Amino acid sequence: MHLTSRAAALFAAVATLTGTVRAISKITREGRYLYQDDGTRFYIKGIAYQEQGAVVASADNPFGEPSSFIDPLAVPDACNRDLPFLQQLGVNAIRVYSVNSSLNHDGCMTAFSNAGIYTIIDLALPLNGSIDRLSPSWSSNILDQYIRTIDAFSKYDNVLAFNVGNEVVVNDGTAVAPYVKAAARDVKAYLRSKSSSVLVGYAAINGPSNFRDPLANYFSCDSTGGNSDATAIDLYGLNDYSWCGDSSFQQSYAGTFGDFAGYNVAAYLSEFGCVKSPPRLWTEVGAIFSTDMSPVWSGGVAFSYFPAQSADGQFGMVTISSDGKTVTTGDDFNRLKTQYNQATGPNSPAKGSAPAAAYPSCPTTNSTFVASTNLPPTPNESACNCLLSTLSCRFTPATNNYTAVVGQLLDTACSLVGQKGGNCDEIGGNGQTGVYGRLSGCDPTIKLSYVMSQNYQLNNRNAVACSFAGNGTVNPLAPSTNAAADAAASSCIANPSATFVPSAPASSGGSSSGNGASGGSSAGSGNGAVNLTGDSNALVGMTVMALLSIASAVWTLA
Ligand SMILES: *[C@@H]1O[C@H](CO)[C@@H](O)[C@H](O)[C@H]1NC(C)=O
Ligand SMILES: *[C@@H]1O[C@H](CO)[C@@H](O)[C@H](O)[C@H]1NC(C)=O
Ligand SMILES: *[C@@H]1O[C@H](CO)[C@@H](O)[C@H](O)[C@H]1NC(C)=O
Ligand SMILES: *[C@@H]1O[C@H](CO)[C@@H](O)[C@H](O)[C@H]1NC(C)=O
Ligand SMILES: *[C@@H]1O[C@H](CO)[C@@H](O)[C@H](O)[C@H]1NC(C)=O
Ligand SMILES: *[C@@H]1O[C@H](CO)[C@@H](O)[C@H](O)[C@H]1NC(C)=O
Ligand SMILES: *[C@@H]1O[C@H](CO)[C@@H](O)[C@H](O)[C@H]1NC(C)=O
Repeated sequence: MHLTSRAAALFAAVATLTGTVRAISKITREGRYLYQDDGTRFYIKGIAYQEQGAVVASADNPFGEPSSFIDPLAVPDACNRDLPFLQQLGVNAIRVYSVNSSLNHDGCMTAFSNAGIYTIIDLALPLNGSIDRLSPSWSSNILDQYIRTIDAFSKYDNVLAFNVGNEVVVNDGTAVAPYVKAAARDVKAYLRSKSSSVLVGYAAINGPSNFRDPLANYFSCDSTGGNSDATAIDLYGLNDYSWCGDSSFQQSYAGTFGDFAGYNVAAYLSEFGCVKSPPRLWTEVGAIFSTDMSPVWSGGVAFSYFPAQSADGQFGMVTISSDGKTVTTGDDFNRLKTQYNQATGPNSPAKGSAPAAAYPSCPTTNSTFVASTNLPPTPNESACNCLLSTLSCRFTPATNNYTAVVGQLLDTACSLVGQKGGNCDEIGGNGQTGVYGRLSGCDPTIKLSYVMSQNYQLNNRNAVACSFAGNGTVNPLAPSTNAAADAAASSCIANPSATFVPSAPASSGGSSSGNGASGGSSAGSGNGAVNLTGDSNALVGMTVMALLSIASAVWTLA
């Protein structure tokens, strides 16, 4: 940018007054392409930026998913320490897997914005803060968590995308996809209701084409069969580790990426950087930013800035001194720097000639892809809270740390209800048949209270049947007959399949409403005569963060 000295001085003064430097360009999507304000095509030249959380290795955690995280956008000293290195690499985006909406992100977000660096933010959190792939639900507690994060970041100009999930859907596990698509629908409706054009994304694990391709099409389709973008993501990410060592476009990429010809929304490699044939040369960068890829793909995110270890090896490119003050770069860093600094994606097509967006109908189901186009409803928290007030027996957690207990109690309660001829269908759902229980969108603690109430009522309202070893309490204000209780419940959940624009939780940014919930854990509880679709196994089910992403290398087709 050329400015006369007077204009430059004026500009600097204005910048000082407003506390900003030249504003980072807004990025908009036209069909499958991304553009800056000035019409230049935008390619993501990114790096994954999050320290590895703690991983508890166990048979219940085959994905090696972490159980804790450090929010990398809440530590300004660390961001300022790393910024010069990110600038050396030439990146224009970082991908962050989990953030804490109650922390302050001003320091990091402003520093990155001033440096022209966008953020791609995953909304899920470890354990109960994500859609459980084994016993999924799209429920108010997760929606509220997603909205709190969106609200915490709405004031920043450098959020490129919010991801509604990372590798939630796996090969032979496609019935979870409707829950993730419902999340995309509701997050998108919320963002657009706030006049935000931040992209809604999903990052997919790679796998056989008969799973990968229909899934990509499913996320970008219109599940209502029209040509509306309301249920479609804007940005598809593929975590792809198929380019190992000194490879070539033909050898590693042509097959996979050929399948995406004509894809309707923007796409990028949400992770890349195979460690199986060291050294990593990063020559795939040349391919990603070439005309072989640019007709469909808009760049990628190299994995990973911080050390990240998996069975396949070490993915980190720098090490941080134990006092957290010094960054030491590795050879990987230097090779990626060379590649990134010489990569420029072709500036075509021009913004005006980008093909118009289209949202085709969804892939038909078959034996390798079973996801229904009937999506779960938008979680209605006030309906669930209304219901809770009518329940005859309610979960009253003794501690804040109730997550693990909820899963065990759900198993127990459903088993008991099953022995009395009842079932847990109302709290469950099925993404293959597209049938969802009336309470499927409720917080797991409310689901548990509902099942406890069923047990209490099926046992002639004997107080012992509500106790659950001190976890349940009879509600004296509930209707006194089972028929009246059922009627009250039905009137609360009057419109169980409604889709609507969600609103911010009452306490956005603060503590939860008091009905705050958990995904629970059913690990090790083997006594269920009833299989509980609404139950979850927190460790297996959490679908977030770097370690899971690393695990994707395991699934890569060689
Ligand atoms: C977010 O940060 C607050 C304040 O430090 C902490 O109390 C809370 O546990 C954190 N939440 C998560 C999910 O880590
Ligand atoms: C199912 O359909 C998808 C396309 O939507 C296709 O890629 C896949 O091969 C099909 N599976 C079978 C078993 O035919
Ligand atoms: C959500 O539930 C409340 C309480 O039953 C109800 O008043 C409201 O209409 C519901 N919202 C939608 C969009 O169905
Ligand atoms: C929470 O509960 C789980 C399971 O009961 C236990 O393993 C864990 O140590 C508890 N955490 C805290 C902070 O009490
Ligand atoms: C609640 O349920 C859990 C799991 O079944 C059990 O370990 C605990 O003793 C129960 N009672 C209380 C007061 O937490
Ligand atoms: C996860 O569980 C904790 C308590 O163990 C709770 O405070 C938090 O709100 C839960 N998060 C979600 C998204 O349900
Ligand atoms: C519950 O589901 C699991 C896995 O789907 C299955 O192995 C088990 O036999 C089922 N248990 C019952 C009691 O149906």
